[in-house]
Amino acid sequence: MNTIFNMFTDIVLSLPTWELIRSFGLTAYILLFFTTAMGMLLPLNLVTGPTKAVVTIAHQLSGWLALTIALVHGLLLMIDRTMPFSWTAVFFPSWTNGRELSYALGVVTLYLLLIVLLSSDLAPVLGKKLWKKIHFFSYLAFVFAFVHGVWAGTDTLTTWGTAIYASTGGIIFVLTVLHVLLRRKPLQQSVKRAVQQKN
Ligand code: HEM
Repeated sequence: MNTIFNMFTDIVLSLPTWELIRSFGLTAYILLFFTTAMGMLLPLNLVTGPTKAVVTIAHQLSGWLALTIALVHGLLLMIDRTMPFSWTAVFFPSWTNGRELSYALGVVTLYLLLIVLLSSDLAPVLGKKLWKKIHFFSYLAFVFAFVHGVWAGTDTLTTWGTAIYASTGGIIFVLTVLHVLLRRKPLQQSVKRAVQQKN
């Protein structure tokens, strides 16, 4: 048993763990962006029929993928020596200074994602009203992941890093504004009519 464990540790240590931590963080963030954007597009009724079914499945799948990859991102920090993290720091964050707070936001995002995804699977038991209330935490999860990535990340100030955060943050901002505007009934009805005419 010990030999297998040592072999596993050797393999993991021979990997470029620091680069993996960063790329898993970015991948989890981009997946979280996709699941949030698709979730915000669905109630706007811009897509219907089979396309809507595909978007719904993609929305659920990218949420679970984001959680899994973010978990690996956190777990690898316990192995890598660039920025040593204990398992307690990964799962029970402290926020006594700015640096720690920037990491803690990632941990809180992980818990929020877990709550949102589990509650979706348990929606028939929880009921639509409670599920909807819990699902609102997904907005918070995206905002926390955005701030965590921008603040804690090594790659934030690269051209491509800035482009990723600016475009994803910008799209979610526009979708949020659309949601607020479409809450107004007359506008909602005219969009519905326009989509129906198009189909
Ligand atoms: C267990 C929870 C988490 C911990 C302990 C954690 C910790 C960290 C740390 C220490 C960094 C700095 C790495 C660097 O200097 O580049 C980082 C970066 C990052 N994290 Fe997390 N994180 C967690 C969860 C998350 C989640 C849930 C997401 C998104 C869904 C996320 C997305 C990112 C991104 C985008 C970066 C920037 C990567 C880069 O600039 O290369 N993290 N995280």
